[in-house]
Amino acid sequence: MNAAKAGFAALGVMVCIGYQGAKAEPMPWDDLPPGEGRELTYASCSGCHSMMLVQQQGLSREAWEDTLDWMVAEQGMPEPPPALREQILDYLAQVFSPERPYFTPDPDGPGRADRP
Ligand code: HEC
Repeated sequence: MNAAKAGFAALGVMVCIGYQGAKAEPMPWDDLPPGEGRELTYASCSGCHSMMLVQQQGLSREAWEDTLDWMVAEQGMPEPPPALREQILDYLAQVFSPERPYFTPDPDGPGRADRP
């Protein structure tokens, strides 16, 4: 390996380390699309089922409200305080909207919709 190649390889390693360092450890919610309320939504929903069940949906805000109400009324989800409920709904309606901005057929990508 010549010096230029070695330098290039070293740079690649540094970039990778820098990236990992900035992210610290990958968190379980990293799979979800970024957005305000992501961690809260993960914490509120992932205790009972995979976030895959959530990510495969593409719903309007009203439909997300219905879904959340259904979780509380029928599935035993604790009713979130109103301010948190708004944050969860804002997040869900933004990233898992009918337009499905994060939908990707990539099986490793966020928002993948092709799994049970
Ligand atoms: C206390 C447990 C619990 C919590 C917390 C919970 N869920 Fe669920 N959820 C369930 C159960 C149980 C089902 C399966 C219901 C069924 O299929 O009959 C379900 C199913 C779903 C489904 C699939 C609906 C469908 O049409 O197949 C969606 C979407 C969903 N939950 C969204 C959420 C979201 C979003 C949150 C967080 C805001 C959440 N859940 C939190 C228990 C929970």
